Amino acid sequence: MANYKLQINGRSYETETEADTPLLWVLRDHLGLVGTKYGCGIAQCGACTVHLNGNAVRSCSLPVSAVGTKKITTIEGLSAHGDHPVQAAWHEVDVAQCGYCQAGQIMTASALLAKNPTPTAEQIDNAMNGNICRCGTYHRIHEAITLASSKMK
Ligand code: FES
Ligand code: FES
Repeated sequence: MANYKLQINGRSYETETEADTPLLWVLRDHLGLVGTKYGCGIAQCGACTVHLNGNAVRSCSLPVSAVGTKKITTIEGLSAHGDHPVQAAWHEVDVAQCGYCQAGQIMTASALLAKNPTPTAEQIDNAMNGNICRCGTYHRIHEAITLASSKMK
């Protein structure tokens, strides 16, 4: 067991755990940040996506010991009032069905638009390719990202 200091959503957190504990378990079970979801646990579905220094990463497959001083952003910290342009577009398009995959989808989409505010349709598809939605909301996800992109111009 070791003590880990983490920078999450602009706040400092501490947790004591094993070095190989996935960040996802720390977020959900140790710190109560349950907006980030567990889907597959093997980096195959994207439900657990968070930002690490602005990059979309799979928190189920990232050991807490590998985080260091990098800044973590979870869905809870993406915006102060749920009004990030991607979140606003998600509401406008009414993307969610069961909702389970949606935090991961939004975190992947927001990381894409932060790096490339005007992605092509192909770039959107490539970026979102690893985020699975069992409800099949892919068309609306694409539409919402296009809408968010147009509003961020
Ligand atoms: S739970 Fe992490 S990618 Fe599926
Ligand atoms: S909205 Fe149900 S899994 Fe995506």
